[in-house]
Amino acid sequence: MAQKRITVAIDGHSSCGKSTMAKALAKRIGYAYIDTGAMYRAVTLYCLELGMIDGDKVNKPRLRRHMPKIEITFKVNEEGKSDTWLNGRNVEKEIRGMEVSNKVSLVSAIGFVRKAMVAQQQAMGRNKGIVMDGRDIGTVVFPDAELKVFVTASAQVRAERRFKELQSKGDTTTTFEEVLANVEERDRIDSTRKESPLRQADDALLLDNSSLSIEQQDEWLYNEFLKRVK
Ligand code: DC
Repeated sequence: MAQKRITVAIDGHSSCGKSTMAKALAKRIGYAYIDTGAMYRAVTLYCLELGMIDGDKVNKPRLRRHMPKIEITFKVNEEGKSDTWLNGRNVEKEIRGMEVSNKVSLVSAIGFVRKAMVAQQQAMGRNKGIVMDGRDIGTVVFPDAELKVFVTASAQVRAERRFKELQSKGDTTTTFEEVLANVEERDRIDSTRKESPLRQADDALLLDNSSLSIEQQDEWLYNEFLKRVK
């Protein structure tokens, strides 16, 4: 009998390695991988480029009018990795920078933005066989997902990982303190916002990976997957 295809929902705090484990699992089991944070980041880049963000204020009426014009897609590049495209342009690099990171929580807290993104995410996962990571996948996007994981690690550990990542990408200006402040501020906004605040679904498995290696967390997740498709 062919193996059952399921939905895997991975949620958790920012920079806790969710996408690393989600990507590795998707590759291993031949499922599609969707990074929903990249979608909110792409909308944020769009807002920044059109001057819709002033300090911590987003021009919501203007953004609402623009929503139908924002098309976000994922395309696999030559290295076999998935890049984020915004209206026909590869924006993978730009959406990972500090400018977008500093504003993304403002944009992702807006109800009509979430509604539009959630509808797209549900369409992408209609046929199951998908690993999706974000903040509200197990609670809002796919409440019926067969495997739900909520990942966390201490803010210090997460900032260290993010700092290393930025440095490896050639960013020599951002300090560790700035990264830590950004991680803590995003945690605060993500968990206290009115629209779909970050929370662990009642039926999600909790994984604190502060002291796990990438290999250890990958094995753990793969085993949980196997239990659900057998
Ligand atoms: O996972 P990330 O750091 O790339 O996510 C960027 C931001 O988008 C983060 O601050 C929270 C928000 N987000 C969200 O609200 N819902 C999701 N499903 C994914 C991300």
